Amino acid sequence: MADKVVLAYSGGLDTSVAIKWIKEKYGLDVVTCTVDVGQHEDLTGIGERGKKIGAVAHYQIDAKNEFATDFVFPSIKANSLYEGSYPLSTALARPLLAEKLVLVAEKEEAVAVAHGCTGKGNDQVRFDVTIKAMNPNLKIIAPVREWNLNREDEIKYAQKNGIPVKPKKSIFSTDQNLWGRSIEAGPLEDPYFEPPDEAFEWCVPAKDAPDKADYLEIEFEKGVPVAVDGKRPSSVDLIQYVNQKAGLNGFGIIDHIEDRLVGIKSRETYECPAALTLIAAHKDLEKLVLTRHELTFKSRVEEEWSWLVYSGLWVEPLRYALNAFIDKTQQRVNGKVRVKLYKGAMRVVGRKSEDSLYQHALSTFGRASTFDQNSAVGFIELWGLPSRVANDKLHGKKKKVLTVAASNQKKKPSE
Ligand code: ARG
Repeated sequence: MADKVVLAYSGGLDTSVAIKWIKEKYGLDVVTCTVDVGQHEDLTGIGERGKKIGAVAHYQIDAKNEFATDFVFPSIKANSLYEGSYPLSTALARPLLAEKLVLVAEKEEAVAVAHGCTGKGNDQVRFDVTIKAMNPNLKIIAPVREWNLNREDEIKYAQKNGIPVKPKKSIFSTDQNLWGRSIEAGPLEDPYFEPPDEAFEWCVPAKDAPDKADYLEIEFEKGVPVAVDGKRPSSVDLIQYVNQKAGLNGFGIIDHIEDRLVGIKSRETYECPAALTLIAAHKDLEKLVLTRHELTFKSRVEEEWSWLVYSGLWVEPLRYALNAFIDKTQQRVNGKVRVKLYKGAMRVVGRKSEDSLYQHALSTFGRASTFDQNSAVGFIELWGLPSRVANDKLHGKKKKVLTVAASNQKKKPSE
């Protein structure tokens, strides 16, 4: 019996061709492995399809729940948006897929794992780094990268080898899971070209969204969403519900220029209705319950966290350490946020929490204020001191002696 390789199998052209190619080139028996991370695709029959092409066995793993709780939820706590825009939908799923591949490879006593990533993208890095960290003895085979294949060559190879080629559903190249859908290639490679409505499947065009505003009430506990509109569904169902609601209101599209890890700039289009909504709601709640100092520092941590995940370093100990900090802050991130969805827009319109640091008596401009306005005078004196000293120097008023005055007049609080 030949040695085995476990191939991450999507059922698409790249990985179907890979089954044959690996057998031919490496003489290995191919075991296919398909992981369900909520890609909304019909995965039935996928194992059979692989076996018809020559796979010796198939594993189908439902990892939706694990993806939601162990990958998506930490990213919500980190308000994770790469380069301020991309909620990392594809990036988060890769280390999970890599982990499953390694586990199946160990079970099957395989000598290698394989994936269909190209040599130009981020995904190859995410797969390879995680695989090597988990099991350095496994060889990694990446046919598309090694073979430098393009679609036309693949179709020719498929036809020659009797591999059924499904007609391509769209001119775009897509990748999707519970947390979002990425749409690339074709006319979108011109960064000035507006993505047509047909590129999107989750978000209706804003003009076709209902004429009446829709609301969502999202409840968070320790930084993760636990209930929506008064119901406590599973994590997966909660995300799917928000995807649907926001998408039906035309909200969730991202169109930006992204810096890939390998140094290439690319135009990326996504639809991530739930991700954008839940992150916005979470971030808003944090503003109510965390101190200014916590928020400022956390935003730096968030940027670093997002970068690590984007760049394939899910397994980097720095990320674990940042998680520890983030989790500590999330203890108080409990409460409800109300968001309004209307014709392609989403806005937080209300928030409340038992852990709120908002004190009406301090912030009100009305009579009930307990804030002594006189206390501001001394504060301003010191707050602006460094800038005053510097300005005096800049404007040549060197001889003037600066003073720091105490505010000594006590007034009634309401004045
Ligand atoms: N640019 C995104 C990322 O690197 C999306 C990549 C989509 N991947 C794909 N195989 N189509 O995370």
